[in-house]
Formats: sequence, C-alpha cells, structure tokens
Amino acid sequence: MLKAIEQKKGKVRILDQSRLPHEIFWIECRRWQDVAKCIKELKIRGAPAIGIAAAMGVALGAQTAKAGSARELYNALRPVLEGLLATRPTAVNIKWAADRMKARLAAVASAPGGGGSVSEAREALWREAELIHEEDIRINRTIGQWGAQFIRDGDVVLTHCNAGALATGGYGTATAAIFAANEQGKRIHVIVDETRPVLQGARLTALEMKEAGIPMTLITDNSAGALLRKGEINLAIVGTDRTARNGDVANKIGTYPVAVLCKENRVPFYVAAPLSSIDFSMPSGDMIPIEERDPEEVASVAGRRIAPRGVNVRNMAFDVTPARYVTAIITELGAFRPGEIKKLAGGRYRPERAKYFLPGARCSSR
Ligand code: MRU
Repeated sequence: MLKAIEQKKGKVRILDQSRLPHEIFWIECRRWQDVAKCIKELKIRGAPAIGIAAAMGVALGAQTAKAGSARELYNALRPVLEGLLATRPTAVNIKWAADRMKARLAAVASAPGGGGSVSEAREALWREAELIHEEDIRINRTIGQWGAQFIRDGDVVLTHCNAGALATGGYGTATAAIFAANEQGKRIHVIVDETRPVLQGARLTALEMKEAGIPMTLITDNSAGALLRKGEINLAIVGTDRTARNGDVANKIGTYPVAVLCKENRVPFYVAAPLSSIDFSMPSGDMIPIEERDPEEVASVAGRRIAPRGVNVRNMAFDVTPARYVTAIITELGAFRPGEIKKLAGGRYRPERAKYFLPGARCSSR
C-alpha cells in the first residue's frame, strides 16, 4: 500500500503527491520549513497525513532550535509551531498534532529536578511523532472494521476526494471501510469523483483502488447526481478535515452537494473520521475556517491555462455539510449519529454503556 510519509534517522521523507500517479518521487526534508512547504503545496495532503507531517516538522525544528534546556526549547519552538499551523487552516489535525507535541515537550520540561535536558526533549519529540503516526494506522484499521459493516456484498460505493492511505498514516479513513469490506470478500464497486480542481480522486483514489485490485469507475464530479438518481449507488462514504461538535462536516469542496443529493435519493451518506479530526471546541461548522487557494488551480488544468486571462476565479478548497445530511460518523470508537459525537469529547465515552453506538451491520435509516 502507498505511503505518504516516513521518518528515518532524523530526516523526514514525503512522497510528492503532486506528481502522482505518474511518478514516485520522495522529498527529503531536513528542516521544519521544508515540511511546511510540502504541506502548503499539497505534496502531502489529507487531514491526518498533514497532522503527522506537522508533528514530524516539530521534531525536526527541535533539532536545530537554540536552547539550553527542555524549558528553553519550549519557547524556541514557538515560531516552528506557528509556521506549521499557518500552512493550511481547515484541517484540525495540524493543531491536534501540535498540541500533542507541546504536551509531550511540557512533560519533559517539567520533569522532577528542574526539567529534562534538550537532548531528552528532542528524543521525546521524535518518539511522539512516531507514535502519532503508528496510532493513526491502528485507528484507521479500526475505522475500517466499523465502516465495513455498512457495506454489503455487491454494493456500489461513491467516494469524493482521497481519504485513503495517502491522506493518512496508512490505510485511510473512508477507504479503510472500502479496503476492509474488500478484505472480507465482499464484492464492491467504487465510484470515484474526480474532485476538481486538484483531482485527488482521479489521481490518488483511482490509484489506490487500482493497486488494491478493487473495481472502480472514475466520474466527473457533476455525474454523481445522475448516478444517484438512477439508483446506481448504494452508499457514499467520505473523510473530513474538521467536524464540528454539532456534527457539521468540513471536507473537500463538492462534498456538500454529494450529501444533499444522497439525501434527495435516500442513499446513506457516511463520514469516516478519527477523533483527531473532530474539533470539539467548535460549536458549529459555520465557524470552520475554509481555505481559499491559488485561483490558478481552477483556471488551469495540468499546467495548461483553460480560462481566459483576467476572469475572476474563486477556489474554495473545502465546504461544510450540515449534520442533517450525514447518516453516521464512523470513528475508531464506533459509528455515531452526527448529533451524538459531542458525547465523545474529553475521552468520557464508554462503549458498553452508550445508547448512541451503532454496532449493527446496518444504520437504521437505510
Ligand atoms: O486538500 P486535501 O487534498 O488535503 O483535502 C483532503 C480531503 O478533503 C480529505 O477528504 C480529508 O482530508 C480526509 S482524509 C482522511
């Protein structure tokens, strides 16, 4: 399975996704600024993957930051954290990962006897970044097990953008459900939205499906409605960059129309998300910052200008799907009605006592 990022001997390597599917090219990052540039330029993308990259960026930044103790390192890393947080505003995973790295450093800095040394702190930060990466893969496997329960033998599954191995530490979130269903022997067919303007569906999800040997069909984004109306799609499943406490879901631009069309055609619409993509501090999706990118991404296709020079272009990278269009949010703790995910805040959730847990093979609205 394709891998988005790895760390080896104090270096971070990022697979340049802007060159996929035609070329495998690894970028070697020696400084945190190299990682930040890769995130900004979509060499690495997908909410969990950029969270992992940011964690590794912090660990890289700690190698060169001037500090005489773990406490001094905490202050010295401020510009590194700010620089990484400024790369992409919508995915909450960067902040989530930055907070984890800060907490790890704070623990070393406040160790008994005046705090740990800089070298202890640097080592701890590498280890934390590695842990974040390993945990993400484990979480995705679990999401896959829950998600596969909503996919029947013979189903046609629609997905938008790329919420696959390339968008995460490995295995994906939305694609985890697809991979797991496939591994369980269910015969499925995946409809892949091309996902204008950056074409993560056509370039990346299509590649992941091809590599896994899962039958798929690539469509233009504006074809999904027609297929839904014809009854040719059984369910849709996507990832998320940030889901608010009320269950509103920010994801790749074009997700919202897919969700509305699913509801119109009585097709379930699922969101697969690790808890690291849920922003419990954000009351509603209306407050989620939406990244606006270079107009050139829309005005050109594969480096060739298609729109006349001088026209106005708007390039919103994400949209927000209101919770009422979401059948269930599939996390590592199980599947939940969107209105119920707030109960997962603060790690208080107890699966065995919860009524809002959907362990069955079907979501009842289906
Ligand atoms: O702009 P991108 O390619 O980073 O957008 C990615 C998405 O919208 C994904 O669906 C989302 O990050 C979830 S990835 C598991």
